[in-house]
Amino acid sequence: MTEKITANTLKQMKLSGEKIACLTSYDACYASLQDKAGVDVLLVGDSLGMVLHGDETTLNVTMNDMIYHTRLVSGVCQRALVITDMPANSYIVPEKGLENALRLVNEGGAEIVKLEGGEFVCETVSLITKHGISVCGHLGLMPQSISTVGGYRVQAKTEEEAEQLKQDALALQKAGAVCLVLECIPAKLAAEVTQILDIPVIGIGAGSDCDAQVLVVYDMLGMTEKKLKFCKNFLTGKDSISDAFKAYVAEVKDKSFPSAEHSFD
Ligand code: KIV
Repeated sequence: MTEKITANTLKQMKLSGEKIACLTSYDACYASLQDKAGVDVLLVGDSLGMVLHGDETTLNVTMNDMIYHTRLVSGVCQRALVITDMPANSYIVPEKGLENALRLVNEGGAEIVKLEGGEFVCETVSLITKHGISVCGHLGLMPQSISTVGGYRVQAKTEEEAEQLKQDALALQKAGAVCLVLECIPAKLAAEVTQILDIPVIGIGAGSDCDAQVLVVYDMLGMTEKKLKFCKNFLTGKDSISDAFKAYVAEVKDKSFPSAEHSFD
């Protein structure tokens, strides 16, 4: 497929069973290589606070940071869909969330805005959606709530937590979210959520049954020191970064990544 990817394309891919390859992206150089390598979705993640700024958390990322990096990525993207994170504290009040979502679209060129949370953010999701901006939800490990979830670890392991996650996912879909990120949850639960939702589910550390996979670009190029169970170094044995992106797309599409060794029980 060479035409521009839209939220509707992702839905068609879910229906046809074609896996969606997504990577984080923060600048024009990487974005251009990723776009040409066939990555379907570029996520300007607020993980940039950790991987670019060197912070311990994503909490210091500002609206201006997100607008700046989104502009760098959207400016060169010809095919891939650009999703941008709304930074922490930018959508606590629904009207402020709408104002900030509009800035990410108008000033940054975002095509979808992503925000973290379940039922409690649905009013914001609904308000932003009603104003014509597409929203992606984010459940499971939510880095903007790291102080309350007690560290970067697998979420929703108890039956009660899994049930709450399913309710949150359905509520986000009902509020108008067009896709949903599930981060670091048991593969079986992610498969169940993917099955009950009509919207595409993008997994990271959420097993192989999600409609899409996303990784932080520096992690999948082996540039970060931490060894992450759900990640793989796609630069190993390749001659170029571009080849690493192509290998990632191929392995997501043919379902060889992620395998059981990259998934949580
Ligand atoms: O900020 C980010 O990069 C993300 C992905 C890890 C899903 O939200």
